[in-house]
Amino acid sequence: MKLALPALTFLAVPLAAAAVEAGEPAPARQRELIHLVRQDCGSCHGMKLTGGLGSPLTAEALRDKPLEGLEATIHGGRPGTAMPPWKTILSESEIQWIVHKLMTGFPTE
Ligand code: HEC
Repeated sequence: MKLALPALTFLAVPLAAAAVEAGEPAPARQRELIHLVRQDCGSCHGMKLTGGLGSPLTAEALRDKPLEGLEATIHGGRPGTAMPPWKTILSESEIQWIVHKLMTGFPTE
């Protein structure tokens, strides 16, 4: 998992820089991200993110997992599994925000 980190920095979308400085996505974008996670991620990870084809993404399930590994999985997908890469859709800071939200209990809306 650690090996993907330099690549992440290198691939970071320039636009994301502003969001990283601001700390988190703008409120309207946060709503889009919540919708995306519930719908698109939910199609594999379960509508309640409790697992399906994909593993559970609840705070409980992710508690002991390193942030970097989770972010790298979302960024690049997990080759050999159904987990697709999201780097063309989600910026680095958006992925960090999603992982943070997953680890603290993902909002329902
Ligand atoms: C097409 C199905 C599919 C979609 C869509 C999908 N995932 Fe996954 N995801 C998986 C599978 C399958 C795994 C487990 C891979 C494995 O067996 O190691 C996984 C693993 C993960 C993991 C690692 C979990 C862990 O415990 O290590 C994270 C985090 C994750 N997905 C987040 C997401 C997010 C966020 C989205 C939406 C942006 C998403 N996934 C969309 C199938 C999917």
